[in-house]
Amino acid sequence: MNPTISQLGRFEGQEIRIGVWLYNKRSSGKIQFLQLRDGSGFVQGVMVKAEVSPEVWEKATQLTQESSMYVTGVVRAEERAPSGYELTVKDIEIIQIAEEYPVSLKEHGVEFLMDHRHLWIRSPRQRAILAIRSEIIRAMYEFFQENGFIKVDAPILTPTSAEGTTSLFHTKYFDEDAFLSQSGQLYAEAAAMALGRVFTFGPTFRAEKSKTRRHLIEFWMIEPEMAFCDHEESLRIQENFVSHVVQSVLKNCQKELKVLDRDVSKLATIQAPFPRITYDDAIKLLQEKGHEIQWGEDFGAPDETAIAEHFDKPVFITHYPTEIKAFYMKPHPERPEVVLCADLIAPEGYGEIIGGSQRIDDLELMKQRYEEHKLDENAYRWYLDLRRYGTVPHSGFGLGLERTVAWVCGVEHVRETIPFPRLLNRLYP
Ligand code: 4AD
Ligand code: MG
Repeated sequence: MNPTISQLGRFEGQEIRIGVWLYNKRSSGKIQFLQLRDGSGFVQGVMVKAEVSPEVWEKATQLTQESSMYVTGVVRAEERAPSGYELTVKDIEIIQIAEEYPVSLKEHGVEFLMDHRHLWIRSPRQRAILAIRSEIIRAMYEFFQENGFIKVDAPILTPTSAEGTTSLFHTKYFDEDAFLSQSGQLYAEAAAMALGRVFTFGPTFRAEKSKTRRHLIEFWMIEPEMAFCDHEESLRIQENFVSHVVQSVLKNCQKELKVLDRDVSKLATIQAPFPRITYDDAIKLLQEKGHEIQWGEDFGAPDETAIAEHFDKPVFITHYPTEIKAFYMKPHPERPEVVLCADLIAPEGYGEIIGGSQRIDDLELMKQRYEEHKLDENAYRWYLDLRRYGTVPHSGFGLGLERTVAWVCGVEHVRETIPFPRLLNRLYP
């Protein structure tokens, strides 16, 4: 394969030819400084008038922002350069002189940038975020591979809801009704009974009318499910999983974290075990802080942030009231009013990144839940079979990729953590 900017170190002193776009340019009259990017990184190309032909010099003069070309040059070590290298440009083959580029290097408003998301992702900051997103996905797969999980793919078109009916995306499936998946969990449970330890990873959809910095309409979720695994063991897997992901980013994305100005000392401390607080104690803590919240109510974003402030690691909030959680969660054996579940709240105000629980494994109790939650027995028939044929204790969880990326990168809003965000009132581009 042709060399990329990220690999320049391997070619020090050598002449190479690379495909690039012009990011920015300045000239002293005798030297043109070309800021070049190729997706893998950025490098400065230096063209000295006295060292190239008049034609080559003229070509460089014509270049506009985002013009595409092949550049031939010699790689030189340069301590002051962020990449550590510079390119002494000998020749340019122009592919296209780009039209006037709308996303200039000055500040733009958010709506303008969102309308130009297809171009905005070329900027150094967006590149860094998307590269870290990719590393997080790689590290997640690595963790599951190392721990004997098998990847299974859950369907996107489903006949049922997994997480309540208020946020369902409806569509027609020929003559039937179908819904876009809110979670692969129910299918992951079936797969765990076949393969033991599994995970699903894919886009999930919530037609939530929430316009917050943590909500997307389409987001990616990784959902492990483990047979013969109780709530406690699931928490241990979660803390090891999240630690592995964060430490991998710290190790492999130093350049990107620097571009984002991320305080890496806050990530270095993310090592298992993570602190835990029960829902009961979290309510007491919030009440002491003057929050208007009663036992039985769910936490809002300000409540989560107030709890997270007490910890420099992610914190598990465990044992929520049965009433406010999903139908499939297993009740506490001594306190049926709470379930064996936990939400993992990220530090620094990034909110809930994981929701998980031990699942109901008893057929009769599950049937009772179907009635209480008015679930269509027919559509969920297959899910009962899992409790009928060799039921076992099992647990699982779902990690929201975009919220995790937002936290690790230290970016305010999830809209920057996915290449093409789907938000309330935004389906373009
Ligand atoms: O807590 P949730 O709803 O849990 C489930 O869907 C379970 N079925 C998971 C499981 O046990 N297999 O969602 C899990 C995570 C949340 O903690 C959050 O990180 C993310 O998914 N999430 C969202 N991220 C962005 N935008 C939204 N609208 C999200 N809703 C949930
Ligand atoms: Mg949740």
